[in-house]
Amino acid sequence: MTDLRKIIIDDKEIEVDPAMTLIQACEEAGVEVPRFCYHERLSIAGNCRMCLVEVVGGPPKPAASCAMQVRDLRPGPEGQPPVVKTNSPMVKKAREGVMEFLLINHPLDCPICDQGGECDLQDQAMAYGVDFSRYREPKRASEELNLGPLVSTAMTRCISCTRCVRFTTEVAGIWQMGQTGRGEDSEITSYLNETLDSNLQGNIIDLCPVGALTSKPYAFTARPWELTKTETIDVMDALGSNIRVDTKGREVMRILPRNHDGVNEEWISDKTRFIWDGLRRQRLDTPYVRENGKLRKASWPEALSAAASAMKGRKVAGLVGDLAPVERRLH
Ligand code: SF4
Ligand code: FES
Repeated sequence: MTDLRKIIIDDKEIEVDPAMTLIQACEEAGVEVPRFCYHERLSIAGNCRMCLVEVVGGPPKPAASCAMQVRDLRPGPEGQPPVVKTNSPMVKKAREGVMEFLLINHPLDCPICDQGGECDLQDQAMAYGVDFSRYREPKRASEELNLGPLVSTAMTRCISCTRCVRFTTEVAGIWQMGQTGRGEDSEITSYLNETLDSNLQGNIIDLCPVGALTSKPYAFTARPWELTKTETIDVMDALGSNIRVDTKGREVMRILPRNHDGVNEEWISDKTRFIWDGLRRQRLDTPYVRENGKLRKASWPEALSAAASAMKGRKVAGLVGDLAPVERRLH
């Protein structure tokens, strides 16, 4: 095991693994550091600059705490532990500056944004921002993306944190999203306007810290404070993902993942996330059978016997296991 290193964070001395980043060490010390791009299950981008802290004795500028490790800090002249401050005037000014820059191009459309009430940008603007803007020029506009039927986009709200890009490439394993252009022209996009292929794509809705990526099926149906939250386990497959079901009155409005390091981490499949849509709106209440190449309405006994006779004489095999989803079959 690596030797632990002493570090002083806001006057509190703790011992941590030197491989930890400063933002993680701050968490160990019980100090909250605001962030947008950092996510502990994704690679480090270090591009939002919201996590700036002051390293005493370091360079005379704030440092991105998500991109600097404890081992990068030098001890004091007499071997004293390095000192990090998260509440100094330098840090306050840096955070205010970052918020002001982030809000330059962000539209003030919170009243019509589905992220309202659970938006990191809203919360952090309240906690660390200033109540004015010096920006008088027109805001940047960008075209919406068509990512498919599940993820709705409003890219003028994007703060280019690249969480969606990192998730789709590193976790979902698709190479369809990226950031193109430079400076003011840089934008998050899907290459060649492709829609997303992954069955895990819904997770970028949760990851997006602003309202740039929201849920299409859930759009404009509820606000977070109207929902009753029930923690439960998903039954759509045999994985047993930990989920939270949000209901409004008697209706299931949405399903979100809960963290479980041993099962689903903090991701869920799209089937788990959007199954409520089928429960509420798209139930198969009338069966159909195909006759002469055309579908016609049928009764349930008629449809079941048609299905049974279609399978008659054919081989049907099943594969069962404690990790296999219940719907997976071999034909
Ligand atoms: S769309 Fe959201 S998650 Fe993706 S880069 Fe923009 S702000 Fe970040
Ligand atoms: S959280 Fe560190 S730069 Fe974004």
